[in-house]
Amino acid sequence: MVYSKINQVAHYVPKQLVTNDDLAKIMDTSHEWISSRTGIAERYISRNETTSDLAVRVAEQLLTKSGLEASAIDFIIVATISSDATMPSTAAKVQAALGAINAFAFDMTAACSGFVFALAVADKLISSGTYQKGVVIGAETLSKLLDWEDRTTAVLFGDGAGGVLLEASQDKHILAESLHTDGSRGQSLTSGQNSLKSPYSEFKSLNPCIQMDGRAIFDFAIRDVSKSISAIIEQSGLAKDELDYLLLHQANRRILDKMAQKIDFPREKFLENMMHYGNTSAASIPILLSEAVQNQKIKLDGSQHLLLSGFGGGLTWGSLIVKI
Ligand code: ACO
Repeated sequence: MVYSKINQVAHYVPKQLVTNDDLAKIMDTSHEWISSRTGIAERYISRNETTSDLAVRVAEQLLTKSGLEASAIDFIIVATISSDATMPSTAAKVQAALGAINAFAFDMTAACSGFVFALAVADKLISSGTYQKGVVIGAETLSKLLDWEDRTTAVLFGDGAGGVLLEASQDKHILAESLHTDGSRGQSLTSGQNSLKSPYSEFKSLNPCIQMDGRAIFDFAIRDVSKSISAIIEQSGLAKDELDYLLLHQANRRILDKMAQKIDFPREKFLENMMHYGNTSAASIPILLSEAVQNQKIKLDGSQHLLLSGFGGGLTWGSLIVKI
């Protein structure tokens, strides 16, 4: 049997740091409101880098850290809801920039669950025995999808990218998986994009900006995501104290607080960095993972168990338990 293993991690964010106080200068908000409701204090916003620019920086670091040639990569998946264009895909741009001539590449759109879904798919590609090395990246420039006049959403999000190098392994490292979608609740978190130039179209233009029913999303996270996290822990056969850290999508500190109560898990095992990055959708979990490796909380030596869990637009939610 062949399995997959995360061998390297990396992240990259744009230079421009925007604090809550900076936002209070351009809209009717305050550091107190944003930080007490969400835990967010600052976020990085791209001035001149696209989503593919951020993803390329991550992919380059993964190659440098691993010492691999770009030609050794078999596939590249970029999870994003803010691709540079519908065509070519962000992943195809990464493939070109790296010179990864043997890699096929595609984007995956599952909003804040995108990285977890992409990692689950990449695991299957490798464990099929057909491919040995893949790059999986979550990358977003959500700042271009925000209505900067809408304080209820503009303060929540940020730009950034993170990713992993996944390679074939003799041992099982992705121990359990649980992926879900409920499209019937999709309207509670939307961002539409279309150009209706067809003379035959009867459709109305969609609002390109992120719109959200915050309460509905909060309730969804606490009810559905908590339930699936409890189920996957049970399914993995691991005792709770065998899980070293939980790396959940970084939407909101209050979601993590409530979830820790709901699944009866020590709050300190939930890593968090939303205070410095805001909500970076598909990028949030790989940025959190890469930062934790940088801070030596996570070691990449096969000795730790992590739970990764993404949740958001679709609605989508998914978790993986990973030995890392
Ligand atoms: N600054 C100041 N005041 C604000 C702001 C702001 N940025 N935004 C809203 N307000 C005001 C509202 O106008 C409202 O005023 P009113 O009472 O006079 O009408 C008041 O604050 C309360 O607004 P609510 O929307 O009820 O605020 P709530 O306490 O529910 O907090 C929040 C909003 C933080 C979004 C909350 O609903 C939440 O945590 N939702 C979870 C969803 C989430 O975090 N989504 C992120 C993206 S989705 C994802 O990644 C899964």
